[in-house]
Amino acid sequence: MLIRSAGPTDLRSSEITPESLYLSRREWLAAAGLTVGAIVGVGALLPRDAAAQQASGKPYGLQADDKPTPWEDVTTYNNFYEFGTNKDDPAELSRGFKPRPWSVKVEGLVKKPGNYAIDDLLKPSVVEDRIYRHRCVEAWSMVVPWRGIMLADVLKRAEPTPGAKFVEFTTLYDPSRMPGQRYPVLRWPYAEGLRLDEAMHPLTLLVSGVYGRDLPNQNGAPLRLVVPWKYGFKGIKSIVRIRLTDTQPATAWNVSAPDEYGFYSNVNPTVDHPRWSQAKERRIGEFLRRPTLMFNGYANQVSSLYAGMDLRKNY
Ligand code: MTE
Repeated sequence: MLIRSAGPTDLRSSEITPESLYLSRREWLAAAGLTVGAIVGVGALLPRDAAAQQASGKPYGLQADDKPTPWEDVTTYNNFYEFGTNKDDPAELSRGFKPRPWSVKVEGLVKKPGNYAIDDLLKPSVVEDRIYRHRCVEAWSMVVPWRGIMLADVLKRAEPTPGAKFVEFTTLYDPSRMPGQRYPVLRWPYAEGLRLDEAMHPLTLLVSGVYGRDLPNQNGAPLRLVVPWKYGFKGIKSIVRIRLTDTQPATAWNVSAPDEYGFYSNVNPTVDHPRWSQAKERRIGEFLRRPTLMFNGYANQVSSLYAGMDLRKNY
């Protein structure tokens, strides 16, 4: 994972909801001096599980100085090795990728397996404006307004059997459409995994859009995972299969470098990567590095999932 400067994108910023809209919404909340409790009154601005989050801490883990990262950066500074290993490669090399038609299999240890056309999968309960902190293991970060569906909704529909303990996610494998797969940079197809309770957490999203429009190819069209308290590499892109299992799934980065990337991959400023510190991060667009927060700022919501676990061993 190399850090390089941003490059061009095929989407003009004028075509999208400007980040100033998201900014002013946040600033309005802040200026109104709304407390966590008071925000319950502005339900129209918040996704439907807001109450659960508000009960347990700051909504979405955002801090007062978290401002959405401009569209330009979110869509040109990417990791998506299926389309090259430089930060500006995915925007450039995924231009011709067609993310529709697209179907996603939900299978394994479930009573109701299915092969869903993407729009049917998303139908019941898409949420907009889920503004999350996005922390890459390379020690840079962004703040991104996602659109998506709670993964829990998809899993509940499939009815996991009692033996289901983990969820495995798989990216499309098609080197004719994803040129990076012609090179053995990682083990293809890219795969990721979560424990079932992590997957069922209301913060865990299957994401289909950003800044109010469909996901650009370089961000993982048409469907990617977002788990905001984990490093960005857990956010597997262009998912074609979700499989419930009884054993911990193999994951792309863990297979390629097991000493550097574990299964859990929780953001943890006290556990360094073997080759660099995780104590601070460079927010894209900012000059000074800022301290990294435990669980990326979502500790109130998620630390109970790891009670009693040694987070140095389970990195
Ligand atoms: N998913 C696939 N299929 N292939 C990848 O190379 N890179 C991961 C993750 N998902 C990757 C992937 C990494 S390392 C990061 S940091 C995030 O995507 C980056 O997401 P973004 O480009 O939307 O910021």
